[in-house]
Amino acid sequence: MRAKIIGTGSYLPERVMTNQDWEKIVETSDEWITSRTGIKERHFAAEGQATSDLIVEASKAAIAEAGIDKDELDLIIVATISGDNAYPSTGNWVQSKLGIKPIPAFDLSAGCSGFLYGLIVADSFIKAGVAKKVLVAGAEVMSRVINWEDRNTCVLFGDGAGAAVLEATEEDTGILSHFWEADGNLGELLIQPAGGSAMPASEETVANKKHTVHMRGNEVFKHAVRMMQESAMKAMERAGLTSDDIDLFIPHQANIRIIESTIKRANIPQEKTFINIDKIANVSAGTIPIALDQARKQGRIKPGDNVLLAAFGAGFTWAGMAIRF
Ligand code: UT7
Repeated sequence: MRAKIIGTGSYLPERVMTNQDWEKIVETSDEWITSRTGIKERHFAAEGQATSDLIVEASKAAIAEAGIDKDELDLIIVATISGDNAYPSTGNWVQSKLGIKPIPAFDLSAGCSGFLYGLIVADSFIKAGVAKKVLVAGAEVMSRVINWEDRNTCVLFGDGAGAAVLEATEEDTGILSHFWEADGNLGELLIQPAGGSAMPASEETVANKKHTVHMRGNEVFKHAVRMMQESAMKAMERAGLTSDDIDLFIPHQANIRIIESTIKRANIPQEKTFINIDKIANVSAGTIPIALDQARKQGRIKPGDNVLLAAFGAGFTWAGMAIRF
């Protein structure tokens, strides 16, 4: 028995923030951002729009496509690093805002690998008989946790949400394999230092922008290239597939140079790689589910296709997965 995706949805807030818009706020240029990252624009949430609001829109679409009643869901997993509150979980708000009866709901913090971690947990729970129909969402409102004065990081991120509904299948489809790892020794390289028990909020932490993304970009880049490739290769190997068997590769979209290097090392052609970083930037845990939904809606995933997913993010965490649709 496997878990398979029976519906996906995504939501991008209306407001589009271009590189030219950032030129007016920090010392940067469209040329620098485009050539160093591949990003041209990103979506930013409207005032008052929280992460759960974005997830609700994506989830409604995923539930509709799955053709199920929302009350058939028996588990909600939300992957995010920019949830509505420290607690309750954003999963709880999603359950409430969707008007679903009380069911288990929780958040999962695994940076940009969060959605893949969520799929792995859902797959395991379905196989164990703990849940039958699971909603997994990945979403961020990064615009609220970036330092708007730090050009090294502020231009890299976007807001958005993606969601998938999973259920058990006896068919030869669904999640074929996964690979996931984490190494906390590298945690300091990409961190939001303040707001937790290690560094509680104070006037000083706010003044020093400690509640925002802190990243040593160069260091992260090197690890990302290596771990994205390893994740992709291990997921293919565990599914008994080679790069020739992959119909579409959906990598995490942090930097076009990381993607290019990954596909070169993993021997996957660019035509078989889904790229939307130019339009949505890095949406952390939201990136993969948004890309997966867009790829399906654009007809790039057909029944029987083997799709490979790979992500790398804060933690560090990294993960790969092969899915047959
Ligand atoms: O989501 C998962 C985790 N995140 C990632 O995987 C991101 C990984 N890292 C990266 O994508 C890249 O390292 C960055 C895009 C963040 C930076 O690119 P880079 O080629 O590694 O640039 P750099 O950090 O080495 O900086 C080169 C120069 C510096 O100037 P100096 O010190 O050489 O004079 C920066 O100050 O570029 C400067 N710079 C900028 N210039 C214009 C940094 N950000 C900007 C900017 N506009 N926005």
